[in-house]
Amino acid sequence: MAANRGREHWGSGFGFLMAAIGSAVGLGNMWRFSYLTAENGGAAFVFLYILMLFLVGGPVLIAELAIGRGAARGPIQALGFYGGRRWKILGLVFVSAGFLIASYYSVIAGWTLRYGLEAIFVGFDPKPAQHFGEVSTGLDALAWHLVFMAGSLWIVNNGISSGIERTSIIVMPMLFVVVCALALYAATLPGSGPGYQYYLEPDFSGLFSRKVLSEAAGQAFFSLSLGMGAMLTYASYLDRTSNLPVQGGIIAFSDFAIAFVAGLVVFPLLFALNLSEDVTASTLGALFITLPKAFLELGIAGRIVGTLFFGALVVGALTSLISLLEVVVASLSDVFTLDRRQATLWTGGAAALLGTPAALNIAALDAMDQVATNVLLMGGGLALAIFTGWVMKEPELELIAGSKRYRILKVWVPLLRYVVPVILAFIMWGSVPKALKAVAALF
Ligand code: TRP
Repeated sequence: MAANRGREHWGSGFGFLMAAIGSAVGLGNMWRFSYLTAENGGAAFVFLYILMLFLVGGPVLIAELAIGRGAARGPIQALGFYGGRRWKILGLVFVSAGFLIASYYSVIAGWTLRYGLEAIFVGFDPKPAQHFGEVSTGLDALAWHLVFMAGSLWIVNNGISSGIERTSIIVMPMLFVVVCALALYAATLPGSGPGYQYYLEPDFSGLFSRKVLSEAAGQAFFSLSLGMGAMLTYASYLDRTSNLPVQGGIIAFSDFAIAFVAGLVVFPLLFALNLSEDVTASTLGALFITLPKAFLELGIAGRIVGTLFFGALVVGALTSLISLLEVVVASLSDVFTLDRRQATLWTGGAAALLGTPAALNIAALDAMDQVATNVLLMGGGLALAIFTGWVMKEPELELIAGSKRYRILKVWVPLLRYVVPVILAFIMWGSVPKALKAVAALF
């Protein structure tokens, strides 16, 4: 069994949960989820998404938690520990994916920070589309990217319990309250009815098309921070008394709940202001154009609501970015025996640099996102399911420590062996060529 060689630790189970939920809840919940729902048939998509959470997201999440806690090391060493040296390569893929995502995620996070501060100090720009064009790429975007990256690194540098955990314990409950309050506010707007109808009344036609299925599974993956060892790394700071299936369930449920409530903000708001057409024509920038339009029309109330909304996004992005950075930092310190401070500096410097093309060219940002999510995360999840289902000897043993009577154990391994690989392979067959095309288009 792995000893916990003086490794850092979470201060409490609650702290771990807040940090893991913080990793899961981010731009994916408050923006990606809404626009995918809009694009793919409203409530019918929500239904399929829940199904994918159970069939694909849940099993992989629990696999990451089990491997991380069992090995008590970062992804590279943890996979080596259970699978032998060859599997360290998969760990390396994980770390590279984390590094790539951290680089461009920080650019988008920089936009949210800027919008949040503008909402407080100057108000929303009267020409939202033009404004977004000006601030989303170029030196401004670069500057905000660097600011956001520096802030996140500062937290990571403070360590697991006094950096990441302390931050998450403070901000995550605030985020939850703010999002719920915004949903209540949206309910008071006249004309919001059709928004609820659109969001909550299923239209099952075309539900089981390959595209919709693949978007639902992809979203389950991205939103739960799976496929690159983020949850694995966080679990490596747990002790063996924690109940992994229960904790996994709480993380997945909270992640879904926040995405769902965020939809209860976005749809009523947009329908009440007759902006519903804009949602479905969504791209990377939609959130930053359509919502400011709505906030602008709502006058002073819009300014308050907008500040809170972008504030929540900043918080979500921050706690997600620190989890991405932590994967790289933990691995560097494992592999090269660097101390946390040195590892953080190297990681941050390199990620700031790699984010630069994304800040200067939005097509580069889009291509990085596609490669990261459609190729690296999906591929990483597929490999991890195969690893846990077929290579690891008795993966259940790690789950049983801390949770004696779990029935869920019986379906867990078969899901990882058969269901997850089949669904993920089916999806990647369509999405990998698309991602490669986006990269090719850059040159
Ligand atoms: N889950 C986060 C979101 O919804 C993004 C994120 C953080 C992520 N860490 C990750 C995605 C690791 C994939 C892998 O915004």
